Amino acid sequence: MRVIAIDGPAGSGKSTVARALAARLGLDYLDTGAMYRSVAFAALQRGIDPADVEAVSKMAADVSIDVGPDGVIVDGTDATIAIRGLEVSQAVSVVAANPAVRTEMVRRQRAWVADRDGGVLEGRDIGTVVFPDAELKVYLTADPEVRAQRRSKEAADLDYETVAADLARRDAVDQGREVSPLTEAEDAFLLDTTGLTVEEIIDVIAGRIGAGDD
Ligand code: DC
Repeated sequence: MRVIAIDGPAGSGKSTVARALAARLGLDYLDTGAMYRSVAFAALQRGIDPADVEAVSKMAADVSIDVGPDGVIVDGTDATIAIRGLEVSQAVSVVAANPAVRTEMVRRQRAWVADRDGGVLEGRDIGTVVFPDAELKVYLTADPEVRAQRRSKEAADLDYETVAADLARRDAVDQGREVSPLTEAEDAFLLDTTGLTVEEIIDVIAGRIGAGDD
């Protein structure tokens, strides 16, 4: 079973890198952040306060989430665009700090891998908690300004200051939470992507697993 874990803060390049690496290795790719965003989206849809630990825990157990290469379906609704919006981005860190939500998402992530006998997963706790025995663990970083610039390019409707403030707030919550805080695994390959192109990043990482340029 081939599992590659890509962790790091928002805007570090995880999604782009994980997708390209999966394509190069012929593996499927899972964006686990989209799963936590989907739970936050479902709470808002159902009128549940994202900070209501009990109600959100209960909901996480039965919400239907399908994160695929072409989009995200939550309870039968196409949530691909909505989960990237500011409302969900602001609600997601409290949802991701909920221990029962994490337990349920980790269970689903492991089942996803078992179904296809491997994959490339990106998130915050893949190398530390979900797959500590992954074949390769990568921890990506980048300067905060560069990460905010990357994110604001993706969110064309939001100005740079709004994106930078949301990112800084989420960094603090993700790193400071009690359950599975964002941190690099001891044996992770640490890569600062500031100033690197996607091709350069992929080449460096692929080199670590001997995939070279094939
Ligand atoms: O990668 P992203 O920005 O889409 O992730 C959204 C939020 O989900 C982020 O603020 C932290 C959380 N997250 C998490 O706690 N664990 C993961 N494995 C992935 C994301």
